[in-house]
Amino acid sequence: MDLTIVVPTFNEGPNVAELLRRIGDAVDDRLFEVVFVDDSTDDTPQIIAAAAQTADFPVRLIHRDAPTAGLGGAVVEGLRAATSNWCLVMDGDLQHPPEDVPRLLARADRDDVDVVVASRYIAGGDSKGLADATRTTVSRASTLLTKSMFPRKLGDCSDPMTGFFLVNRDAIDIDALRPRGFKILLEILARRHLRVGEVPFAFASRFAGASKASFTQGIRFLTQLLMLRFGRMSAFALVGGVGAIANLVIMWGLIRLGMDYLPASIIASEITIIGNFLLLEYLVFSDMRAESGSMRQRFVKSFTFNNVEAIIRIPVLWVLVENAHIPSVIAAGLTLIAAFVVRFVFHALVVYAPKRQPVDASLAVAPERARAAEY
Ligand code: GDD
Ligand code: MN
Repeated sequence: MDLTIVVPTFNEGPNVAELLRRIGDAVDDRLFEVVFVDDSTDDTPQIIAAAAQTADFPVRLIHRDAPTAGLGGAVVEGLRAATSNWCLVMDGDLQHPPEDVPRLLARADRDDVDVVVASRYIAGGDSKGLADATRTTVSRASTLLTKSMFPRKLGDCSDPMTGFFLVNRDAIDIDALRPRGFKILLEILARRHLRVGEVPFAFASRFAGASKASFTQGIRFLTQLLMLRFGRMSAFALVGGVGAIANLVIMWGLIRLGMDYLPASIIASEITIIGNFLLLEYLVFSDMRAESGSMRQRFVKSFTFNNVEAIIRIPVLWVLVENAHIPSVIAAGLTLIAAFVVRFVFHALVVYAPKRQPVDASLAVAPERARAAEY
């Protein structure tokens, strides 16, 4: 096999036959297979299975009953299942024209790159197929933001948000990828310095069906960016910072409503503790939730910790000021920094610790756990 074409699909039934037909017409000089990684909730898997019968090249279907990490997770699954080193990733809705595939392959044949990106943003490319002006602006702006955060790794890539690319599986560390949502190429390029080549392409409009892009995907993308650039600890710090501001705003509001400052402060703190927990759940530790028991247990641990922390921090502050004679503001800063570090360690290692597995299964999950801890 020279090439594996990985196609993530979510309810793309009406596009399947046309996609396979056009791939078959376009790619005629290589031995290739198509791997659909499907998370559909409709009859798409049956349509793919039927189309596979009549195609004159191998078509495989991986249907995920319990999909994780959305489009990005599906692509990673496809890369794992591929039987060739070179893998082409493309959407299943024909926005990535199969007729462009030979040009990507030709670029890879020059043997000086690990990834060939089909770019909308170099001469000869265009992005008119994006749904509307808002999508275009969001895409442009997030491309700029992303490139500015990884100026070197993305130096040769004008379109890190594209989902149309050719990658040499040998050049990447699949196990190191942490896909969360739509932007899998970004994940691949940001993890390891790769040699990137580009060919222009025109982003077409959808053949059939509707886009699955959404506001939630946008939030996932921002989290991904933050995690890739600064790691989990800074995402955690950001949530803490937002919480601190929210805390003060709520307290101020309650005092304005006539409440005494002490109960106002307590209520504001408790609301913030709950809000922060939700942000940690859905943003910072979202990838570790599945393995770390029930949400209720995590909440109890997190809630207890934060309250104990608040109770301990005040006497510590008092000791620092009265006995060690540190100016009170500096002392307060020190306790907050110490509390932050302890809180991060506690959440990463205790609240979101993977649950112990039964003895015989524990070997199988060990590498995954080790990786989660390293992240
Ligand atoms: N398996 C799987 N699971 N596939 C998914 C999922 C999912 O949760 N969500 C979307 N897909 C598939 C769709 O079925 C389609 O084949 C492809 O991923 C792209 O999804 P669209 O819904 O068509 O998204 P889009 O057109 O807005 O986004 C595309 O354009 C972006 C560039 O602006 C994607 O190609 C992105 O990767 C690309 O970055
Ligand atoms: Mn699309």
